[in-house]
Amino acid sequence: EKTTLSVIKADVGSIPGHVVAPPELLEECEIELNRGLTENTINDFYITRCGDDIQLIMTHFSGEDNTDVHRLAYDAFLRATKKAKEMKLYGAGQDLLKDTFSGNVKGMGPGVAEIEFEERRSDPVIVFAADKTDPGAFSLPFYRMFVDPFCTPGLVIDPTLQEGFSLEIHDIKENRKITLDAPEDTYKILAFIGSTGRYLIKRVYRRSDGEIAASLSTEKLTHIAGKYVGKDDPVAIVRCQSGFPSVGEALEPFAFPHLVSGWMRGSHRGPFMPVSQEDARNSRLDGPPKVIALGFQINKGTLVGPEDLFSDVAYDRTREKAQEVADYIRRHGPFEPHRLGEEEMEYTTLPQILKSLESKFKKI
Ligand code: F6R
Ligand code: MG
Repeated sequence: EKTTLSVIKADVGSIPGHVVAPPELLEECEIELNRGLTENTINDFYITRCGDDIQLIMTHFSGEDNTDVHRLAYDAFLRATKKAKEMKLYGAGQDLLKDTFSGNVKGMGPGVAEIEFEERRSDPVIVFAADKTDPGAFSLPFYRMFVDPFCTPGLVIDPTLQEGFSLEIHDIKENRKITLDAPEDTYKILAFIGSTGRYLIKRVYRRSDGEIAASLSTEKLTHIAGKYVGKDDPVAIVRCQSGFPSVGEALEPFAFPHLVSGWMRGSHRGPFMPVSQEDARNSRLDGPPKVIALGFQINKGTLVGPEDLFSDVAYDRTREKAQEVADYIRRHGPFEPHRLGEEEMEYTTLPQILKSLESKFKKI
Protein backbone atom coordinates (compact mmCIF):
# COMPACT_ATOMS: atom_id res chain seq x y z
CA GLU A 1 0.00 0.00 0.00
CA LYS A 2 1.34 3.40 -0.94
CA THR A 3 1.28 6.36 1.42
CA THR A 4 0.21 9.81 0.25
CA LEU A 5 1.31 13.03 1.86
CA SER A 6 -1.02 15.92 0.96
CA VAL A 7 -0.29 19.49 1.96
CA ILE A 8 -3.19 21.83 1.22
CA LYS A 9 -3.08 25.51 2.20
CA ALA A 10 -5.25 28.58 2.13
CA ASP A 11 -5.48 32.05 3.61
CA VAL A 12 -8.91 32.36 5.18
CA GLY A 13 -8.29 35.33 7.46
CA SER A 14 -5.74 36.78 9.82
CA ILE A 15 -5.05 39.17 12.68
CA PRO A 16 -4.41 42.07 12.41
CA GLY A 17 -4.60 42.70 8.68
CA HIS A 18 -2.48 40.14 6.85
CA VAL A 19 0.00 39.39 9.66
CA VAL A 20 -0.88 35.97 11.09
CA ALA A 21 -3.67 33.36 11.16
CA PRO A 22 -4.86 33.11 14.79
CA PRO A 23 -5.12 29.83 16.76
CA GLU A 24 -8.93 29.97 16.67
CA LEU A 25 -8.85 29.24 12.92
CA LEU A 26 -6.40 26.36 13.30
CA GLU A 27 -8.71 24.91 15.97
CA GLU A 28 -11.64 24.99 13.53
CA CYS A 29 -9.54 23.16 10.94
CA GLU A 30 -8.58 20.61 13.59
CA ILE A 31 -12.23 19.80 14.34
CA GLU A 32 -12.80 19.05 10.67
CA LEU A 33 -9.63 16.99 10.21
CA ASN A 34 -10.47 14.98 13.33
CA ARG A 35 -13.74 14.13 11.61
CA GLY A 36 -11.65 13.06 8.61
CA LEU A 37 -9.67 10.74 10.91
CA THR A 38 -12.83 9.17 12.33
CA GLU A 39 -14.24 8.64 8.87
CA ASN A 40 -10.90 7.21 7.64
CA THR A 41 -10.55 9.84 4.93
CA ILE A 42 -7.08 10.57 6.30
CA ASN A 43 -4.73 8.58 8.52
CA ASP A 44 -2.94 11.39 10.37
CA PHE A 45 -2.54 15.16 10.20
CA TYR A 46 -0.67 18.19 11.50
CA ILE A 47 -1.85 21.77 11.15
CA THR A 48 0.38 24.83 11.09
CA ARG A 49 0.41 28.38 9.84
CA CYS A 50 2.95 30.61 8.16
CA GLY A 51 1.88 34.26 8.29
CA ASP A 52 -1.73 34.54 7.14
CA ASP A 53 -1.74 31.06 5.54
CA ILE A 54 -2.91 27.82 7.15
CA GLN A 55 -1.34 24.52 6.03
CA LEU A 56 -3.13 21.19 6.45
CA ILE A 57 -0.49 18.46 6.38
CA MET A 58 -2.26 15.11 5.93
CA THR A 59 -1.31 11.47 5.35
CA HIS A 60 -3.63 8.84 3.82
CA PHE A 61 -3.69 5.90 1.42
CA SER A 62 -5.92 7.27 -1.34
CA GLY A 63 -3.38 8.78 -3.75
CA GLU A 64 -3.02 12.30 -5.16
CA ASP A 65 -6.02 14.37 -6.23
CA ASN A 66 -8.37 12.32 -4.08
CA THR A 67 -11.83 13.90 -4.01
CA ASP A 68 -12.58 12.99 -0.37
CA VAL A 69 -9.27 14.32 0.91
CA HIS A 70 -9.62 17.54 -1.08
CA ARG A 71 -13.23 17.95 0.07
CA LEU A 72 -12.14 17.46 3.69
CA ALA A 73 -9.51 20.19 3.32
CA TYR A 74 -12.00 22.53 1.66
CA ASP A 75 -14.55 21.86 4.42
CA ALA A 76 -11.88 22.65 7.03
CA PHE A 77 -11.18 25.98 5.33
CA LEU A 78 -14.91 26.73 5.01
CA ARG A 79 -15.34 26.06 8.71
CA ALA A 80 -12.37 28.31 9.56
CA THR A 81 -13.85 30.96 7.26
CA LYS A 82 -17.11 30.90 9.20
CA LYS A 83 -15.13 31.51 12.40
CA ALA A 84 -13.05 34.22 10.71
CA LYS A 85 -16.25 36.00 9.69
CA GLU A 86 -17.69 35.73 13.21
CA MET A 87 -14.45 37.23 14.56
CA LYS A 88 -14.55 39.90 11.81
CA LEU A 89 -10.99 38.87 10.93
CA TYR A 90 -9.29 40.52 8.02
CA GLY A 91 -9.58 38.79 4.65
CA ALA A 92 -12.03 36.21 6.00
CA GLY A 93 -12.32 33.44 3.42
CA GLN A 94 -10.15 35.34 0.93
CA ASP A 95 -8.61 32.30 -0.82
CA LEU A 96 -11.84 30.33 -1.18
CA LEU A 97 -13.07 31.40 -4.58
CA LYS A 98 -16.17 29.19 -4.50
CA ASP A 99 -18.57 28.29 -1.70
CA THR A 100 -19.37 24.81 -2.95
CA PHE A 101 -16.75 22.11 -3.48
CA SER A 102 -16.46 20.59 -6.95
CA GLY A 103 -14.24 17.50 -6.86
CA ASN A 104 -10.73 18.96 -6.51
CA VAL A 105 -9.43 21.99 -4.66
CA LYS A 106 -7.32 22.97 -7.68
CA GLY A 107 -8.75 26.07 -9.31
CA MET A 108 -10.83 26.82 -6.20
CA GLY A 109 -8.19 28.92 -4.43
CA PRO A 110 -6.19 26.64 -2.07
CA GLY A 111 -2.64 25.58 -2.99
CA VAL A 112 -1.71 21.89 -3.13
CA ALA A 113 1.50 19.84 -2.97
CA GLU A 114 1.14 16.05 -2.85
CA ILE A 115 3.36 13.00 -3.18
CA GLU A 116 2.43 9.32 -3.24
CA PHE A 117 5.15 6.79 -2.47
CA GLU A 118 5.99 3.33 -1.24
CA GLU A 119 7.43 3.83 2.26
CA ARG A 120 11.10 2.97 2.51
CA ARG A 121 12.68 1.45 5.60
CA SER A 122 12.71 5.01 6.91
CA ASP A 123 11.22 8.03 5.19
CA PRO A 124 12.23 11.55 6.20
CA VAL A 125 10.38 14.45 4.51
CA ILE A 126 10.45 18.21 4.81
CA VAL A 127 7.32 20.30 4.38
CA PHE A 128 8.09 23.90 3.46
CA ALA A 129 5.52 26.68 3.77
CA ALA A 130 6.03 30.29 2.77
CA ASP A 131 4.10 33.54 3.09
CA LYS A 132 4.18 36.83 1.16
CA THR A 133 5.74 35.28 -1.91
CA ASP A 134 4.86 33.14 -4.91
CA PRO A 135 5.82 29.58 -5.99
CA GLY A 136 8.76 30.96 -8.00
CA ALA A 137 10.52 31.47 -4.64
CA PHE A 138 11.29 27.72 -4.68
CA SER A 139 12.97 27.63 -8.10
CA LEU A 140 16.40 28.65 -6.87
CA PRO A 141 16.33 26.37 -3.79
CA PHE A 142 15.06 23.36 -5.79
CA TYR A 143 17.76 23.92 -8.39
CA ARG A 144 20.41 24.18 -5.71
CA MET A 145 19.38 21.10 -3.73
CA PHE A 146 18.79 18.77 -6.72
CA VAL A 147 21.21 20.04 -9.35
CA ASP A 148 24.03 22.07 -7.83
CA PRO A 149 26.97 20.10 -6.41
CA PHE A 150 28.22 23.26 -4.70
CA CYS A 151 25.12 22.97 -2.52
CA THR A 152 24.60 19.20 -2.41
CA PRO A 153 27.82 17.23 -1.92
CA GLY A 154 25.87 13.98 -2.37
CA LEU A 155 25.61 14.67 -6.12
CA VAL A 156 29.37 14.21 -6.25
CA ILE A 157 30.19 11.72 -3.51
CA ASP A 158 27.11 9.46 -3.17
CA PRO A 159 26.63 6.86 -5.95
CA THR A 160 22.84 6.81 -5.36
CA LEU A 161 22.61 10.48 -6.40
CA GLN A 162 25.00 10.36 -9.35
CA GLU A 163 22.37 9.79 -12.04
CA GLY A 164 20.79 13.09 -11.12
CA PHE A 165 17.20 14.31 -11.16
CA SER A 166 14.52 15.24 -13.74
CA LEU A 167 12.71 18.51 -13.33
CA GLU A 168 9.11 18.88 -14.48
CA ILE A 169 8.89 22.56 -15.39
CA HIS A 170 5.50 24.23 -15.77
CA ASP A 171 4.99 27.27 -17.96
CA ILE A 172 2.10 28.86 -16.08
CA LYS A 173 1.52 31.51 -18.76
CA GLU A 174 0.95 29.03 -21.59
CA ASN A 175 -0.30 26.15 -19.43
CA ARG A 176 2.23 23.65 -20.71
CA LYS A 177 5.07 21.62 -19.24
CA ILE A 178 8.48 20.25 -20.16
CA THR A 179 10.69 17.70 -18.37
CA LEU A 180 14.44 18.29 -18.46
CA ASP A 181 17.24 16.17 -17.02
CA ALA A 182 20.02 17.32 -14.74
CA PRO A 183 22.96 17.43 -15.00
CA GLU A 184 23.08 17.40 -18.82
CA ASP A 185 20.24 19.93 -19.44
CA THR A 186 21.45 22.27 -16.72
CA TYR A 187 21.89 25.36 -18.91
CA LYS A 188 18.49 24.84 -20.55
CA ILE A 189 16.84 24.34 -17.18
CA LEU A 190 18.31 27.64 -15.97
CA ALA A 191 17.24 29.41 -19.16
CA PHE A 192 13.64 28.69 -18.18
CA ILE A 193 13.54 28.77 -14.39
CA GLY A 194 15.44 32.07 -14.16
CA SER A 195 12.02 33.57 -15.11
CA THR A 196 10.54 32.93 -11.69
CA GLY A 197 7.13 34.42 -12.50
CA ARG A 198 6.53 32.11 -15.44
CA TYR A 199 8.41 28.78 -15.27
CA LEU A 200 8.05 26.76 -12.07
CA ILE A 201 9.53 23.44 -10.96
CA LYS A 202 6.33 21.54 -10.21
CA ARG A 203 7.90 18.14 -9.50
CA VAL A 204 11.32 16.57 -9.22
CA TYR A 205 12.01 12.87 -9.94
CA ARG A 206 15.03 10.68 -9.24
CA ARG A 207 16.29 9.49 -12.61
CA SER A 208 17.62 6.09 -11.53
CA ASP A 209 14.13 4.77 -10.77
CA GLY A 210 11.64 7.59 -11.46
CA GLU A 211 10.81 8.01 -7.75
CA ILE A 212 9.16 11.29 -6.77
CA ALA A 213 11.60 13.54 -4.88
CA ALA A 214 9.76 16.84 -4.52
CA SER A 215 6.49 18.60 -5.26
CA LEU A 216 5.47 22.26 -5.22
CA SER A 217 2.10 24.03 -5.17
CA THR A 218 1.98 26.08 -8.34
CA GLU A 219 -1.55 27.45 -8.23
CA LYS A 220 -1.56 31.11 -9.26
CA LEU A 221 -4.53 32.80 -7.65
CA THR A 222 -4.13 35.74 -9.98
CA HIS A 223 -4.52 33.47 -12.98
CA ILE A 224 -7.37 31.49 -11.46
CA ALA A 225 -9.40 34.54 -10.53
CA GLY A 226 -8.40 36.68 -13.52
CA LYS A 227 -7.75 39.65 -11.25
CA TYR A 228 -5.45 40.44 -8.35
CA VAL A 229 -6.46 38.42 -5.31
CA GLY A 230 -3.10 38.25 -3.56
CA LYS A 231 0.00 36.15 -4.04
CA ASP A 232 -0.20 32.38 -3.93
CA ASP A 233 1.94 31.71 -0.94
CA PRO A 234 3.41 28.30 -1.75
CA VAL A 235 3.97 24.96 0.00
CA ALA A 236 6.47 22.31 -1.00
CA ILE A 237 7.37 18.75 -0.03
CA VAL A 238 10.91 17.35 -0.31
CA ARG A 239 11.87 13.71 0.38
CA CYS A 240 15.25 13.25 2.01
CA GLN A 241 18.14 10.82 2.61
CA SER A 242 19.37 7.59 1.01
CA GLY A 243 19.09 8.46 -2.66
CA PHE A 244 17.61 11.92 -2.13
CA PRO A 245 19.34 15.04 -0.81
CA SER A 246 19.95 14.70 2.92
CA VAL A 247 17.92 16.91 5.25
CA GLY A 248 20.88 19.27 5.51
CA GLU A 249 21.39 19.37 1.74
CA ALA A 250 17.70 20.16 1.21
CA LEU A 251 17.90 23.01 3.73
CA GLU A 252 21.25 24.47 2.68
CA PRO A 253 19.85 26.63 -0.19
CA PHE A 254 17.82 28.58 2.40
CA ALA A 255 21.00 29.71 4.17
CA PHE A 256 21.13 32.35 1.42
CA PRO A 257 18.19 34.79 1.67
CA HIS A 258 17.65 35.22 -2.07
CA LEU A 259 15.31 37.88 -3.43
CA VAL A 260 11.76 36.75 -4.17
CA SER A 261 8.57 38.43 -5.42
CA GLY A 262 5.70 39.22 -3.09
CA TRP A 263 5.96 41.15 0.16
CA MET A 264 3.81 44.29 0.47
CA ARG A 265 0.71 44.03 -1.74
CA GLY A 266 2.35 41.17 -3.64
CA SER A 267 4.19 43.86 -5.58
CA HIS A 268 7.73 43.94 -4.26
CA ARG A 269 10.96 42.01 -4.19
CA GLY A 270 12.49 41.16 -0.86
CA PRO A 271 14.75 38.63 0.87
CA PHE A 272 13.37 35.15 1.59
CA MET A 273 13.83 34.74 5.32
CA PRO A 274 13.91 31.28 6.96
CA VAL A 275 12.26 31.40 10.40
CA SER A 276 10.92 29.15 13.15
CA GLN A 277 7.19 28.38 13.26
CA GLU A 278 6.88 30.77 16.20
CA ASP A 279 8.47 33.61 14.20
CA ALA A 280 6.39 33.05 11.05
CA ARG A 281 4.41 36.27 11.33
CA ASN A 282 4.69 39.08 8.83
CA SER A 283 4.66 42.55 10.27
CA ARG A 284 7.51 44.51 8.70
CA LEU A 285 5.85 46.04 5.67
CA ASP A 286 3.69 42.89 5.82
CA GLY A 287 6.84 40.82 5.53
CA PRO A 288 9.57 40.27 4.63
CA PRO A 289 8.70 37.04 2.76
CA LYS A 290 9.16 34.11 5.15
CA VAL A 291 9.61 30.36 4.94
CA ILE A 292 9.31 27.63 7.55
CA ALA A 293 10.56 24.04 7.24
CA LEU A 294 8.99 21.19 9.20
CA GLY A 295 10.77 17.83 9.30
CA PHE A 296 8.76 14.60 9.67
CA GLN A 297 9.44 10.89 9.55
CA ILE A 298 6.63 9.05 7.81
CA ASN A 299 5.78 5.87 9.71
CA LYS A 300 3.15 3.53 8.21
CA GLY A 301 1.06 6.45 7.06
CA THR A 302 1.51 8.52 10.21
CA LEU A 303 3.49 11.69 10.79
CA VAL A 304 6.29 11.53 13.36
CA GLY A 305 7.31 15.07 14.27
CA PRO A 306 7.51 17.83 13.31
CA GLU A 307 10.93 19.17 14.03
CA ASP A 308 11.03 22.94 13.46
CA LEU A 309 14.12 23.01 11.25
CA PHE A 310 14.75 26.73 10.82
CA SER A 311 14.66 27.26 14.59
CA ASP A 312 18.33 26.20 14.44
CA VAL A 313 20.58 29.11 15.51
CA ALA A 314 22.70 28.23 12.45
CA TYR A 315 20.25 30.36 10.41
CA ASP A 316 20.75 33.44 12.61
CA ARG A 317 23.30 34.92 10.21
CA THR A 318 20.93 34.28 7.28
CA ARG A 319 18.22 36.16 9.14
CA GLU A 320 20.60 39.02 9.90
CA LYS A 321 21.61 39.17 6.24
CA ALA A 322 17.93 39.17 5.29
CA GLN A 323 17.33 42.15 7.61
CA GLU A 324 20.24 43.98 6.02
CA VAL A 325 18.93 43.25 2.52
CA ALA A 326 15.46 44.34 3.60
CA ASP A 327 16.85 47.67 4.88
CA TYR A 328 18.79 48.16 1.67
CA ILE A 329 16.09 47.34 -0.83
CA ARG A 330 13.40 49.22 1.15
CA ARG A 331 15.28 52.46 0.52
CA HIS A 332 14.26 52.18 -3.14
CA GLY A 333 10.68 52.89 -2.03
CA PRO A 334 8.35 52.79 -5.02
CA PHE A 335 11.18 52.21 -7.52
CA GLU A 336 12.14 49.04 -9.34
CA PRO A 337 13.73 46.66 -8.64
CA HIS A 338 12.15 46.83 -5.15
CA ARG A 339 8.76 47.32 -6.78
CA LEU A 340 8.06 44.60 -9.35
CA GLY A 341 8.29 45.33 -13.06
CA GLU A 342 5.40 46.57 -15.16
CA GLU A 343 4.35 43.17 -16.45
CA GLU A 344 3.91 41.67 -12.99
CA MET A 345 2.12 44.84 -11.85
CA GLU A 346 -0.58 44.12 -14.46
CA TYR A 347 -2.23 41.87 -11.90
CA THR A 348 -2.36 44.53 -9.22
CA THR A 349 -4.53 47.60 -8.76
CA LEU A 350 -1.86 49.94 -10.21
CA PRO A 351 -3.31 49.84 -13.77
CA GLN A 352 -6.55 51.43 -12.44
CA ILE A 353 -4.58 54.48 -11.30
CA LEU A 354 -2.66 54.76 -14.58
CA LYS A 355 -5.88 54.40 -16.57
CA SER A 356 -7.55 57.29 -14.75
CA LEU A 357 -4.81 59.58 -16.15
CA GLU A 358 -5.06 58.25 -19.71
CA SER A 359 -6.87 61.37 -21.06
CA LYS A 360 -4.18 63.75 -19.74
CA PHE A 361 -1.45 62.24 -21.94
CA LYS A 362 -0.21 64.33 -24.90
CA LYS A 363 1.80 63.11 -27.87
CA ILE A 364 5.55 63.82 -27.90
C1 F6R B 1 0.47 40.58 0.37
C2 F6R B 1 -0.46 40.90 1.45
C3 F6R B 1 -0.50 42.27 2.02
C4 F6R B 1 -1.66 43.07 1.42
C5 F6R B 1 -1.70 44.50 1.96
C6 F6R B 1 -2.89 45.27 1.42
O1 F6R B 1 0.39 39.25 0.03
O2 F6R B 1 -1.23 40.07 1.88
O3 F6R B 1 0.72 42.93 1.84
O4 F6R B 1 -1.55 43.09 0.02
O5 F6R B 1 -1.77 44.47 3.35
O6 F6R B 1 -4.02 44.56 1.76
P1 F6R B 1 -5.50 45.06 1.43
O7 F6R B 1 -5.55 45.35 -0.04
O8 F6R B 1 -6.34 43.88 1.83
O9 F6R B 1 -5.74 46.28 2.29
MG1 MG C 1 -0.28 34.80 2.70
